[in-house]
Amino acid sequence: MSSKFSKIGFILAVAGSAVGLGNAWKFPTLVGQSGGSAFILLYIILTLGVGFVIFLAELSIGKISEKDPVNAYKKLAPKYKKAWSFVGFTMIGSILIVSFYALVIGWVVKYAYLSVIGQLPNSLELSKIEFENLTAHDFLSQFVCFTLVFFVIFYIVSKGIKNGIERLNVWMMPSLFILLILMLIYAMSKDGFVLALKFLFIPDFHKINISNTLEALGLAFFSLSLGVGTIITYSASLPDRTNFITSTLNIIFINLLAGLLMGLVVFTFIFEFGYDPNQQGPGFVFVSLATLFEKLGLVGHIFGAAFFISLVFAGITSAVSMIEPSAFYLINTFKMSRKKALVLIGIFVYILGILCILSSLDTTQFKILGMSFFELLDSFSSKIIMPLGGILIAIFVGFVIKRETLEILFKPYMRGIFFKIWYIFVRFISPLAVFVVLITKLIGFYIKF
Ligand code: TRP
Repeated sequence: MSSKFSKIGFILAVAGSAVGLGNAWKFPTLVGQSGGSAFILLYIILTLGVGFVIFLAELSIGKISEKDPVNAYKKLAPKYKKAWSFVGFTMIGSILIVSFYALVIGWVVKYAYLSVIGQLPNSLELSKIEFENLTAHDFLSQFVCFTLVFFVIFYIVSKGIKNGIERLNVWMMPSLFILLILMLIYAMSKDGFVLALKFLFIPDFHKINISNTLEALGLAFFSLSLGVGTIITYSASLPDRTNFITSTLNIIFINLLAGLLMGLVVFTFIFEFGYDPNQQGPGFVFVSLATLFEKLGLVGHIFGAAFFISLVFAGITSAVSMIEPSAFYLINTFKMSRKKALVLIGIFVYILGILCILSSLDTTQFKILGMSFFELLDSFSSKIIMPLGGILIAIFVGFVIKRETLEILFKPYMRGIFFKIWYIFVRFISPLAVFVVLITKLIGFYIKF
């Protein structure tokens, strides 16, 4: 990534990275499991108080250094260069993520296919069984869909992020939103809509606890692609004289909106079909929406196909952003060709992805720490690597990079007072908040055992 993005290209690429299955698949699932409104409230607070702050910190590292994550720390740290450069290796977290993420995109591909051939399940019970069949019994479908997605993603990255992704995002993002808004309008005509509104927006403070808070924090990081080098890498190609504060605010807004719209639609139909929103597993979005599309007949099939296909694209633009940091690093450091770097990363991702499929199948199931390999990768990256990466990024920007350097970067776009507030957050409040959540959870973990 040596050349720069166009101004709009940067927003589109980062928004494309942010908006993905985190919003469509993780968000509704976690909201359901963690008690609705309380979780959303935590998520919004953490997105603004921690996510936004660390996003700007990561962006500063990328923009000032114009390097990949590892070399960025090496370049900017005045001393302990080697030690700091290790923080850059949190980018391995995004490689772990892409291995299960590509599998989830594979599930969406399968649902897109079922919509096209008109074979979606027509009740929520059947839909649940169908989803469980896919993940617990159907190796072949998962293998085929995962492999297909895998090659598409690596093909796009091999073309270089800017060429492939800019164009894809220009139409992907608006079409996803248009579809979501149409679905929302339809949802509004249903009784379930009011129940969904209540479930999502009337805060129930009893349901706030440390586990939820860590989940919400993990989601805030995941959803903004933070803590694992993606934002550093994309910001290395941020064009000069771009108002990156407005860009960041736009991206955060788009990302929150995508999650909330998705949540409203999914929960409306969960209530509409008479289900308990707290008792759903990871297939929440598939189960609810597939049933909806089937019930709408032919229109539903067409709509479903369009929706799942745009979701596949949304997922792909995110997945691409997980691979680019490591590719960029290998290319810069070892002077590898892009192709060679991608083959190396690809082998790793492919093996992990296949292990994810196998670990959830009934016949080959294996568990580590009580979790399937898939869940382990997910938990480890969202709840440990990303928050830890976030703390270190905040410390680096708050205490290692000179304040004047940051002021020069921020001044044209941020008023002095806002800069001061951000600076206090990045030095103390945000890293401390993340630290407290992590430590409290860890202590809780030990007490339980
Ligand atoms: N933010 C994306 C989503 O919500 C996922 C994602 C893209 C991501 N790039 C990332 C997550 C880097 C972690 C790290 O779907």
